Amino acid sequence: MARLIFLMMLVMCFGLSQSENKLCQRCKCTKSKVNETKIDIDCTDNSAVHEVLYQQSSWIDENNITVPYARVILKGSQLGDIVTPFLPSTLTHLDLTRNGINNIKVECFAELQSMDTLILSDNNINLLKPDVFKGKRLDGENYPLRSLKTLKLDMNDLHTLDQDVFEHVEQILEVLDLSYNPIKVFDLQTTIAIGSIIYLKELYLRFTHIKELPDHFLHTPRHLKLLDLSGNNFEKIPTGLSEAQVLETLYFNNNPIVNITRESAFPNISTLKVLYLCYNIELENIGAKALSSLENLVELHICNNIKLNHIDPAALSRVEGNSESEVWPPLKKLYLEDNKLASLDLHLVLHWDHLEELDLRYNPWTCECENQWIVDTLMPIYVKINETLAKEMKCGAPVEMEGVTFYDEYVANKSMRCLDYYGNRPERDGTVLIAVLIGLLLGIPTVLFIIFAYQRKWFGFFDSGPAAYSRQFYRRTRSDEL
Ligand SMILES: *[C@@H]1O[C@H](CO)[C@@H](O)[C@H](O)[C@H]1NC(C)=O
Ligand SMILES: *[C@@H]1O[C@H](CO)[C@@H](O)[C@H](O)[C@H]1NC(C)=O
Ligand SMILES: *[C@@H]1O[C@H](CO)[C@@H](O)[C@H](O)[C@H]1NC(C)=O
Ligand SMILES: *[C@@H]1O[C@H](CO)[C@@H](O)[C@H](O)[C@H]1NC(C)=O
Ligand SMILES: *[C@@H]1O[C@H](CO)[C@@H](O)[C@H](O)[C@H]1NC(C)=O
Ligand SMILES: *[C@@H]1O[C@H](CO)[C@@H](O)[C@H](O)[C@H]1NC(C)=O
Repeated sequence: MARLIFLMMLVMCFGLSQSENKLCQRCKCTKSKVNETKIDIDCTDNSAVHEVLYQQSSWIDENNITVPYARVILKGSQLGDIVTPFLPSTLTHLDLTRNGINNIKVECFAELQSMDTLILSDNNINLLKPDVFKGKRLDGENYPLRSLKTLKLDMNDLHTLDQDVFEHVEQILEVLDLSYNPIKVFDLQTTIAIGSIIYLKELYLRFTHIKELPDHFLHTPRHLKLLDLSGNNFEKIPTGLSEAQVLETLYFNNNPIVNITRESAFPNISTLKVLYLCYNIELENIGAKALSSLENLVELHICNNIKLNHIDPAALSRVEGNSESEVWPPLKKLYLEDNKLASLDLHLVLHWDHLEELDLRYNPWTCECENQWIVDTLMPIYVKINETLAKEMKCGAPVEMEGVTFYDEYVANKSMRCLDYYGNRPERDGTVLIAVLIGLLLGIPTVLFIIFAYQRKWFGFFDSGPAAYSRQFYRRTRSDEL
């Protein structure tokens, strides 16, 4: 029995000593989800962490073994500038969001050689010295921070980057987020800095106030697969996009672009598969050939563009080579919800039945015969793709059809009315004729009566001159008195 108690105490002591490091006393430590043998720390909004963060006892146990941290979350922990180097750790994810960091001293992260993600979002950083990301000397290599794949610098005050800022991670970094920094224009150093990241795969430049991409900006990051240019000041599609070599996903939301025409079309990005063109509040028109050079487009999002009222039937297709045959991209997913579209052309997509996803909701579709094909041809296909969404496609015009669904029209096998050549509605002609007839029937006797009255000078209305007016006035007054 005594031995058992002793054993239990031993286990408890061991258990305690495991968790009894100063960070875990102040923050929430849990078993890591990514690796059961490791520990995640969450110190979100906990400013008490500051005093112990740089102490030995926070990072090693009493047996002088480094605590096996995985994710270390220090969000909003009021750390201020990072001037003390982090102690050696196996941590893989370090989140320093919202700490009022202005300045980071060089080599502070050098001992974090397992760190694959570093988040410095929402601080006040306006300058990054080249050796901030300096690691440890490796044979023949230049002090790399050898695991760092994702670096988030969004929501800071960076106008420019030192051209050597990524020199220690240029062979390693894959994801860079510079969103919400006032970059405005890419100067040469910034262009060189970004271009130096050899294996860069994802680049986020949302809300950076940029208007254009510098020449050859996309020439050097030869592995770039995702580019986010949303929320900027682009008034036209940047032609430099054609230099992207393996770009697959492009976000071009929320830019002040008005009209995408054949001349200002997307350039040839033959690798592009996914395109987002949403929330462009000025966008009115997508013309013929606007998207034709995106020959391998699979997923197209054109949504929430509140002024967009026209997509040309030939916006996606192109005429290939000498054969003059028309070719379409292999579209699988098409999202056109929440624009101002009134009609949709059958020709826009070659095989509507090859689509796996389709969203046409929240547009003021006209329920007239120009869209009859939607009822007859598209609805049966749409119902198979996604019945819920198919049933929500509604008419926005003419008034008497508002709110009616295309699905109802389809089920009832209805033919929608047509405007004739002059934009009149023949089916309304009957009403118009009757109105004219009534008008004539009432009008002719009235006119005859007025002429008759005029000849007899019954009212005096038709006398001319101001004298006649006053005479008539007095005459009427007098007749009232009688
Ligand atoms: C978990 O972490 C340990 C080191 O703490 C490592 O040896 C092991 O390979 C990791 N396991 C997984 C599944 O990553
Ligand atoms: C802990 O280990 C380090 C090297 O890993 C060594 O330099 C240091 O002297 C050790 N400290 C103690 C108290 O054993
Ligand atoms: C878009 O540009 C084309 C050709 O330049 C022009 O014909 C059309 O009117 C423009 N549309 C809008 C909505 O500005
Ligand atoms: C687009 O570029 C690819 C390769 O760069 C080329 O094979 C293709 O012919 C080009 N397409 C057009 C329409 O220019
Ligand atoms: C239909 O689309 C909605 C919204 O995109 C989605 O939530 C739902 O799962 C889809 N249903 C099917 C059957 O694909
Ligand atoms: C729908 O109407 C057309 C002619 O208007 C007819 O040929 C067709 O059989 C009808 N389909 C159904 C399901 O009633």
